[in-house]
Amino acid sequence: MSVKVTWLGHAAFLIETGKYNLVIDPFLTDNPQASCKADELPELSAILVTHGHRDHLGDTLHLAKKFNCLVVSTVEIANYLKGRGVKHVHGQQPGGAWKHPFGKVKLTRAFHGSFLPDGSYGGQPVGFLLEVEGVTIYHAGDTALFSDMKLIGRKGVDLALLPCGDNFTMGTEDAALAATYIHPRIAVPMHYGTWELIDTDPQDFARRLQGSSIKPVILKPGESLSQLIR
Ligand code: NI
Ligand code: MN
Repeated sequence: MSVKVTWLGHAAFLIETGKYNLVIDPFLTDNPQASCKADELPELSAILVTHGHRDHLGDTLHLAKKFNCLVVSTVEIANYLKGRGVKHVHGQQPGGAWKHPFGKVKLTRAFHGSFLPDGSYGGQPVGFLLEVEGVTIYHAGDTALFSDMKLIGRKGVDLALLPCGDNFTMGTEDAALAATYIHPRIAVPMHYGTWELIDTDPQDFARRLQGSSIKPVILKPGESLSQLIR
């Protein structure tokens, strides 16, 4: 078994298990960093959305309707999408886990904001602790550094996806410290370089993890990590 994780640019990732295709924060249209168009994605089993900001909700509405697939997010965002014609939504809240057909998803805290495109409240922003095919992936969402990240990693994380663009989220220094708190096997920086405001150097993130047992991997948009299982 293997799980393939592809960075689509910004905070968007495609996770392919062979049986299921999942996408997290599918912001592709109007994303200058996007490695593909929304309509070039394979058939999706589920879409996971960390918060309501347009650079995360992105193409969710279009893709959810196109594939008639499940959307997992906060209760507020699930209701927002349901009200706009998305049939299969599953709302959770921070701290809560649920076993979906494709794997287990636990919502984690994220220190950020969350409003929806129409200005309505999107609930608390979240991150995802995702278990698929025996692989544990943590997508932090948009967040500041917080020391409880140590608790998120306590059962072992294979791959952590961490924002490092600064201004709206952690910068490279805080993201590297976050990695040491979570202690994944592999740490991938994200949410940088999309616009001038978040144009940080991911090499600084990687440099700060030198000498630790965490392997930083800097992806280019469109690049994948596979064979995550030891
Ligand atoms: Ni945001
Ligand atoms: Mn963002």
